[in-house]
This record gives sequence, C-alpha cells and structure tokens, in this order.
Amino acid sequence: MRVYIEDIGRHEGQPVTIKGWLHNRRSSGKIHFLILRDGTGFLQGVMSKAAVGDELFHLADHLSQETSIIVDGTVRADTRAPSGYELDVTSFSVVGESRDFPITPKEHGVDYLLDRRHLWLRSERQQAILRIRHEIIDAVRDFFNSRGFILTDPPIFTPAACEGTTTLFPVEYFEDQKAYLTQSGQLYLEATAMALGRVYSFGPTFRAEKSKTRRHLTEFWMVEPEMAYASLDDVMDLAEDLIVSMVARVLEKRRHELSVLERDITKLEAIQKPFPRISYDDAVTRLKSKGHAIEWGGDFGGPDETTLSEAFDRPVMIHHYPSAVKAFYMKPDPDRPELAMGVDVLAPEGYGEIIGGGERLADLELMLQRIKEHDLPQEAFEWYLDLRRYGTVPHGGFGMGIERAVAWICKLEHVRETIPFPRMMYRMYP
Ligand code: 4AD
Ligand code: MG
Repeated sequence: MRVYIEDIGRHEGQPVTIKGWLHNRRSSGKIHFLILRDGTGFLQGVMSKAAVGDELFHLADHLSQETSIIVDGTVRADTRAPSGYELDVTSFSVVGESRDFPITPKEHGVDYLLDRRHLWLRSERQQAILRIRHEIIDAVRDFFNSRGFILTDPPIFTPAACEGTTTLFPVEYFEDQKAYLTQSGQLYLEATAMALGRVYSFGPTFRAEKSKTRRHLTEFWMVEPEMAYASLDDVMDLAEDLIVSMVARVLEKRRHELSVLERDITKLEAIQKPFPRISYDDAVTRLKSKGHAIEWGGDFGGPDETTLSEAFDRPVMIHHYPSAVKAFYMKPDPDRPELAMGVDVLAPEGYGEIIGGGERLADLELMLQRIKEHDLPQEAFEWYLDLRRYGTVPHGGFGMGIERAVAWICKLEHVRETIPFPRMMYRMYP
C-alpha cells in the first residue's frame, strides 16, 4: 500500500510503498542507508544485501541525490530515528535519474541557491519554511472566516496609486487608460466594507521598491481586513488578535518545522495579549534616548524599527504618526490634525513593521483636499469619493505582509526565503 511518510506511524510492522526521492545515501559494505523524502517528510530506509539480493543491492550503489524512486519495505519503530520509524527495504525501482544534483549538503552561497531556487525548495529547511508559510496563511483565513469577515478580492490592475506614486508598476496594454499593478487592495476593500460590513482580501501585491533590504520584495502577498464602523482602537485590537492566533497556530501545528529551523520557541510563546501601544511621539523620544538621529516628523527607517521592536518581547503598536509621512487616506486626529490615526505593528526580535493600517478619512471635503495635496488624479478617485458621498461611516483596517510575518516567525535573515519564487529588483529568475 502506498503511504505518505507523515502517516508512517500508523503502519508499524506493515509492508508499505513510499513514492519519493532519494535525499541522501550512506553505504557500508553490506548496508545502504537511504534517506527518502516524499514531500511530507523524511524517512531512513535500511537496505541490506540479504533482504534485496545482490542485483538490486548493487544497483543501489549508484543511486544519487534526488533520484526519484519507489521503495517497498516494512515499517519498523526505531527510537533513534528522528521520525521514530525506519523502513526495512525489500525492493525499489528508479523512476527518474538525477545526475550531479547541483545542491549538495555542503554550503552554497545565497546567489547560487537563488539561481537554483526551483531545486533549492527541495531542501529540508526550505520545505519547513513553506509549510510554516502555509500554516500562517491557513490560520489567517480561519481567523477572518470565523469572525464573519467576507473574502472580497480586489483587482490587480488598478488605475491609480494607493501607497504613493514612487513604487507603482505601470502596465502597458489598456487603451486610453493608465494602468498599474496593485500596491494594496485597500481602496476597493473600503467599497466592499460599505457593502458587506467586514471584509478581507488576500492576494499578490506589487511595489517597485528601489530599496534592496531584507524586508522588501517587489511582489508579495498581503492580507487586508477592512471594517465599517471601526475606530483606530478597533483596528489595533484586531491586529493584536490576528497575530496572537497566527503564532499560536504555528506553535500548535508546526513544532517539527520550527525545530528544523532551530527556532527559539520561547520567543514565540511570549506572543500574548496585550501588546504595548505607544505613540509616535513616545517612539521618537525612545529613539533619541538611544542615540538615533531621528527628528520629530520623520518616518522611521529600518534601523529605527529594529531598535524599537527589540525593546519588547512581543509586537509593539506605534500609532499617531505625523500625517506628512503617511498615505493620503488616513484620518487626521481631531485634536491634533498634524497626526494621522494610523498604526504600524512592529514584530519583535528586530523584525520591524509587519502590519500597517489605521482609521480612514471618512469626510468628503477633507478627502478632496488630500487628493489635491498628494497630487493624485481626482478622476481616478471619483468612485472612491462616492464612498464619502453616499453614507460615509468611520471605518478602518490594515494590511499584513505575509512574507514579513513568515520571516519573523521563522526567524529568517531575509524575506527572500519566505516565498517559493522571490521577486526583487535584481531577481526575476527562475
Ligand atoms: O504599510 P503598507 O504600505 O500599508 C498598506 O498598503 C495599506 N494600504 C494596508 C491597509 O491598510 N489595507 O503595507 C502593509 C504591509 C507592511 O506592513 C508590510 O508587512 C507589507 O505590507 N509590505 C511589504 N512586504 C514585503 N515587501 C514589500 N516591499 C512590502 N511593502 C509592504
Ligand atoms: Mg507601512
């Protein structure tokens, strides 16, 4: 019977068939140790000459890394094995050869690996990261679905900017119309929220980022909830609950993958409510006291965020930024109009911003003014202005970049390992 390695424990003592690839092989005179992988896990197969006969045994002398093979054997419990089981091999057949697999157990440089990303994905570490990514996405979906949020997918082709014109990707095709790849579905989610109350989207997002940092991709995946009748506090509460449930889920279901990555679990176990909430004013004071060259009014750079987020054992929410450094759609604080009622959530351990959001500007006149101030084409925003013309309400939401969340939860150096095929300013291949 064909079984998956992840289910092997249910077949102790039974004959089974594993369909997979040879991850690695060690051989002594009379025994081959085959590390098999099938996408669900790794399993050591033990092949003795006595069990398979001379001919098959010698065939196995030449089995090389990543050869696809179908292996028959009997499952045996073995307390020394990482999975708790081994396979006593009785037979095998080769499906596809693999000569000189370019990624060997030795160390390779990251550019070498990225050029071979399609093969690099087969490594145990990359598999662990992608499984955790999957778990995070699944947890995010469950979180919103179980709270009555309706998934509404915004368009990818858009006629205007949402997050500033400097990171727009133009698309040539549409007649008489400027078109860009979406930077955020938010504006459309504001429309669907006015129809459905609580909505979210989860999809690809594009930013022509000129910055080559460990936090930036040109194509990434963002989850964006939006709520009608919501305040900045509601937005912060939601962000906090989302992060707590996401981390709890990974801890519950992906312990093994976290251990493959040698992740310090105690750091994740500390992710509990409440998260500290500090104002931009306070954040600037903290940074100055630590010697950062920031002046009130400036946006935080990567190093500023790193310092702020290192000060806490859980995510920190920074709210009330100067309007001047934030997007046109943010509601000004009625008491201090120079401040925007926005929030950034910075992940701990120096990871910096993983969530940006806040309360939206709901007033028509002020919105018209902002569009002018930001030099945005009003025609392209008429539909958006309609949301303020027909039954406007206080509302808000946020966006979380999945790759940044994965990088933090997995404690990776760079977001490039968090997505199957990363896209960056200097990388389009494979
Ligand atoms: O802070 P941002 O730009 O906010 C928005 O786009 C809002 N319109 C979202 C909303 O309120 N609905 O982006 C949100 C998040 C960031 O916190 C970050 O996690 C991620 O998206 N992000 C990126 N991730 C990877 N590479 C990039 N270049 C990113 N730019 C933003
Ligand atoms: Mg932001």
